[in-house]
Order: sequence, then C-alpha cells, then structure tokens
Amino acid sequence: MTPPSAPDGRDAGTPVDLVVVGLGYVGLPLAARACEAGVRTIGLDVSAEVADGLNAGRSHVGDVPDSVVADMVAAGFTATTAPSVLAAADTIVLCVPTGCPHQVNRI
Ligand SMILES: NC(=O)c1ccc[n+]([C@@H]2O[C@H](COP(=O)([O-])OP(=O)(O)OC[C@H]3O[C@@H](n4cnc5c(N)ncnc54)[C@H](O)[C@@H]3O)[C@@H](O)[C@H]2O)c1
Repeated sequence: MTPPSAPDGRDAGTPVDLVVVGLGYVGLPLAARACEAGVRTIGLDVSAEVADGLNAGRSHVGDVPDSVVADMVAAGFTATTAPSVLAAADTIVLCVPTGCPHQVNRI
C-alpha cells in the first residue's frame, strides 16, 4: 500500500496497489484475479473503447465473462486511458504488444 506521502518523493495521489497496462487477453484476466484477491487495481489502456466498455461492465475478452468484469467494477476496479495513474501505483505490470514486426528475420 502506498502511504499518502511516499518517502521516495513520488506523487502518491490516490493509493493504488497495481496498474495493469494493456487490458487484453493477458492483462484483463490478470486484473480480474488481482481484484478477486483484494488488490486495488486500475487498468490502463490506449483504447477508450476498451476502457469505457470495462467501466460499463462489458468484457471484450472471450475468456472473461461480463459477470467477472461487473465483479471487478464492484470491487473498485476502474479502467482509464490516463497514464497519470501510474504515478500512484506500487506495482505496474505491462501486458501490451511487444511491437515486434510481423516480418522479422529471427535468428
Ligand atoms: N495472448 C497470449 O496468449 C499471450 C501469451 C504469451 C505472451 N503474450 C504477450 O502478452 C502481451 C499482451 O498480449 P495480449 O494477447 O494480451 O494482447 P491483446 O492485443 O489482447 O491486448 C493488448 C492490449 O494492450 C492495449 N495497448 C496497446 N498498446 C498500449 C499502450 N502503449 N499502452 C496501454 N495499452 C496498450 C491494447 O489496446 C489492447 O487492449 C504481448 O506482448 C504478447 O506477446 C500473450
């Protein structure tokens, strides 16, 4: 848990245990399990459509039913496109595409 004034000088803001960056097939189930475990979790995604849908209780990931997203929201989960949430996070997990081009010569 982040104290109100973090000793390392970070802008603590509203304390949050975990920010999951990228709410797709990897990030959303991770965020769901974190919420189930009582971890205060925020999801950060570049897609406003993804963030808005999750905040409305709609899943876009086949493995995660709407009911699970509704439980996440009820537990305090929010999704956002605002990177400023990272400043208050104790832990950040990146679940975004690697950016590796499709046509690449692998060694
Ligand atoms: N899906 C799998 O089975 C699997 C298995 C092993 C590893 N991975 C790796 O996990 C990572 C995520 O894969 P995935 O399947 O969840 O991808 P995905 O395409 O399902 O989801 C990625 C999400 O990240 C968001 N995003 C993209 N760029 C972003 C950025 N800069 N900041 C914030 N959000 C951003 C997208 O809008 C999308 O919602 C990838 O690096 C992938 O290689 C995936």
